[in-house]
Amino acid sequence: MLKGKVVVVGVCGGIAAYKAADLVSRLKKLDADVHVIMTRSACEFITPLTFQSLSQQYVVHDMFEEPRSWEIQHVSLAQKGDVFVIAPATANIIGKVANGIADDMLSTTIMATKSPVIFAPAMNSNMYENTIVQQNINKLKSLGYIFVEPESGRLACGDVGKGRLAPTDTIVDAVIQAIGYEKDLKGIKVLVTAGPTREPLDPVRFISNYSSGKMGYAIARAAKYRGADVTLITGPVSLQPVEGIRMIRVNTALEMYEAVMDNFYESSIIIKAAAVGDYRPLHFSADKIKKERDKFEIELTKNPDILAELGKRVQKQVLIGFSMETQHLEQYATKKLVEKNLDLIVANDISKEGAGFAVDTNIVKIIDKQGRIKDLPMTPKEQLAHEVLNEALKIYHNKNK
Ligand SMILES: Cc1cc2nc3c(=O)[nH]c(=O)nc-3n(C[C@H](O)[C@H](O)[C@H](O)COP(=O)(O)O)c2cc1C
Repeated sequence: MLKGKVVVVGVCGGIAAYKAADLVSRLKKLDADVHVIMTRSACEFITPLTFQSLSQQYVVHDMFEEPRSWEIQHVSLAQKGDVFVIAPATANIIGKVANGIADDMLSTTIMATKSPVIFAPAMNSNMYENTIVQQNINKLKSLGYIFVEPESGRLACGDVGKGRLAPTDTIVDAVIQAIGYEKDLKGIKVLVTAGPTREPLDPVRFISNYSSGKMGYAIARAAKYRGADVTLITGPVSLQPVEGIRMIRVNTALEMYEAVMDNFYESSIIIKAAAVGDYRPLHFSADKIKKERDKFEIELTKNPDILAELGKRVQKQVLIGFSMETQHLEQYATKKLVEKNLDLIVANDISKEGAGFAVDTNIVKIIDKQGRIKDLPMTPKEQLAHEVLNEALKIYHNKNK
């Protein structure tokens, strides 16, 4: 399954370091070309010889040792690796990468790679729950680093809690997920919109919605992994930017409209995951509105319907919209698909737990023009992003035969 793929396994200094031997062995059985980098601390727990024997490759642990070939090792492995999997990942390596520290072979190589990096943390539960560790994890996640959550249970130190290295199977699955995709979007221009819009009332207030932008950002990142030329038009969100793509930041629905129109014709797949405000205040007060009246009415006016405008113009392009409903999901989503001339609509029922805004999962139905419905169970947004792109690509090839 991983034939021809180079997997770099980073082993850090924790009790679970011995479990990395099983991981290396499993990856080898899947035909991967496995290279191991150990930290200095990891060598206190398990010897390089174990990994050398299992991977049948020289194990790197010292950045300044005599080079074995003319290649600069941290750069060559960074380029060679199709995926990096750090297991066990210590609080230390997570903190170092999150803060741009590259002071040994492993952290330097991670810093130098453009390939997906998977962290499988393992540590004492108090360490894992530490706000600093969690902030570092969240920062890395928002930058596109992948995490395989540790399990809860009895830890090596005797404590009970979350921090035990995920099972080898789960880590192997994450590796397959990260590199199991071909660069099938190479050369295709994908335009994605994400996040909410803000419609200003006065210099300090606005009308907006709860969109976090996670779905759109996940699509942009997945498209990038699959080789697409990605433009992401984003409303104000608190996510880290997606590296290696073109990002355009907007605030209002009108700005979103302008930016989408400017980029529409040169894009082949357009995925509108943004939650654009339907209305904006008719009047903007240049001065802050004072708290003088007991009752206060805001007159609203309709924003342009970006999807409908694109639907009028679409030809060979693939146009995909999202629909968030609290009732009559299929009926409302299908109506939107037809009325706006979409190729596909991703409908989610935000009243369900695990779906909608701000969470990392979604529960959706993907409906196409022929009325076919793909009903997906609760799925991580990263995975759902690939599902949407798979469908988009099929339609793209059909329309551009
Ligand atoms: C016996 C022992 C067990 C340890 N287990 C862990 C662990 O499971 N997770 C962790 O994050 N740190 C653990 N540490 C602390 C790390 O070894 C320490 O933070 C070290 O600096 C990590 O270096 P590295 O990230 O370069 O491997 C342990 C230390 C000792 C002495």
